[in-house]
Amino acid sequence: MSLKHISKYTQEDLSWARSLPKVELHAHINGSVSLDDLRSLALSKNLPFPATLALPGDPGFDIKDVFTLFSSTIYGVVRDQDALRFVVGKVLDAFQADGCVYLELRTTPKKNVAMDMDEYVMVVVGAIEEWLLGRAGSQEGLMHVRLLLSVDRRHSVEQANQIVDLAVKYAPLHTCIVGVDVCGDPTVGGIRHLVPALQKVKPAALKLVVHFAEVAECPEQDELETILSLNPDRLGHCTFVPSHLMDEIIKREITMEICLSSNVVGGTVSAYERHHLIELWKERGYRNLVLCTDDRGIFLNELSHEYLIAMDILGLTKREMEEWAARCVEQYRK
Ligand code: IMP
Ligand code: ZN
Repeated sequence: MSLKHISKYTQEDLSWARSLPKVELHAHINGSVSLDDLRSLALSKNLPFPATLALPGDPGFDIKDVFTLFSSTIYGVVRDQDALRFVVGKVLDAFQADGCVYLELRTTPKKNVAMDMDEYVMVVVGAIEEWLLGRAGSQEGLMHVRLLLSVDRRHSVEQANQIVDLAVKYAPLHTCIVGVDVCGDPTVGGIRHLVPALQKVKPAALKLVVHFAEVAECPEQDELETILSLNPDRLGHCTFVPSHLMDEIIKREITMEICLSSNVVGGTVSAYERHHLIELWKERGYRNLVLCTDDRGIFLNELSHEYLIAMDILGLTKREMEEWAARCVEQYRK
């Protein structure tokens, strides 16, 4: 759908958007690898991969289908250390090719037959460090890569504690680890049980980033207030934020991660032209906004596409987009 939307842009526009130095702050590792790469990975490992999948653009595809893709297809393929290393490398290549100069990836540490959560984190960190080493001294400006460890809202207290503790333990040893994210199917349950674990994040000088008001119905009445009480550094999506809480976010100057295609393709926003970015930018004059892809492997949306779409729906010039991109780079690529 996003590709269709940008079909009115010329190849020159696309090249311009790709060449723009950009920041990506909201990208889930296993959602950012392309389905083609996953298919070839499955083939090389003799693992089943469905011939047909419910995909964005299919009639009735919605946010629930995104989570089904992860549980029923993607995690069936990305299930050992080799596969995880392969996926991280592919994702880094893709963002570098898209003109990203600061990339903050996020991933949920998983325990499976091949590794425990600690090993999962070490494989991801090792793959990032290896990728960076392989490009040190290259002609292209080296992309800065950082990592958030995600807590899934379905996690138990014990799992959440384990993930936060891993971030606290490894951040001083691996500069790429910078914080903790809260993600997961927003329709399945609240996050109140995770609060004691999440309260350890900021005192450890780590960033706290949370998926926020992604769907209309919050699983818990006071969930949004609880999240704000944790003093998060950034909020993802912010689609269904009540006006008084939006006032508060703006007053606190919290960065919002804007995922245009993810919202439209996932069906939580009915059209790009109705996206809340427009109200935030035009009516509220808010600028602490960063365009992000969320799951570029699923939504088929390069970050460059998101820039072109935002330029269109906000009626901005290329110069204004360049200034926006430059502000993001200045803020994050230190
Ligand atoms: P991973 O953490 O690298 O395995 O990336 C996939 C995971 O990210 C999924 O299992 C979800 O928990 C989470 N995720 C991906 N997209 C979304 C989203 O749009 N909302 C909330 N969580 C998401
Ligand atoms: Zn997300």
